[in-house]
Amino acid sequence: MDQLKQIIRDIPDFPKKGIIFKDITTLLADAKSFHRMVDLMAHRYIGAKIDQIVGIEARGFLLGSALAYKLGTGITLVRKPGKLPFQTSSVSYDLEYGRDTLEIHKDAFNPGDRVIIADDLLATGGTMAAVVELVRNNGGVIHECAFMAELEFLQGRRKLPEGIVYSLLKF
Ligand code: PRP
Repeated sequence: MDQLKQIIRDIPDFPKKGIIFKDITTLLADAKSFHRMVDLMAHRYIGAKIDQIVGIEARGFLLGSALAYKLGTGITLVRKPGKLPFQTSSVSYDLEYGRDTLEIHKDAFNPGDRVIIADDLLATGGTMAAVVELVRNNGGVIHECAFMAELEFLQGRRKLPEGIVYSLLKF
């Protein structure tokens, strides 16, 4: 696990001064690390009878689609406003400055579908908390929220339902 953590690089002062950005592109670009990360995450869900993976735009699509392929499920996209072509449900949530909105297709789930929501990073938890609401409002039953990495010091878990949050790499 340490090897996987080490390949994620720190970018100081991105996207703004004072923030140290965890750049996962180095992990994704390294064949061995990418395979290992996907295999470890997928292994956790073998036998869990998952119906659908939900991927959060944009980096959540990468883990999400790899997991879906491995588990033999489909992938549903949660996107920024105006990107999905069919009827959508939306959720808005607070950012440090302002608000953001995410959307999902209204017919994404059959009632009771067992879902994993995939994203690259758990930081403040605001994004995932909004997607949890979106999935539940549309009939999905969340098996787990799955992250490649978690910034523990930001305590994003506190915003999420207990017992259904998993991150592979903790910083
Ligand atoms: C990043 C990251 C998560 C979210 C985590 O996405 O991919 O989705 O922020 O932050 P939070 O836990 O504080 O909500 P971003 O909004 O940068 O979108 P992107 O993946 O399209 O770059």
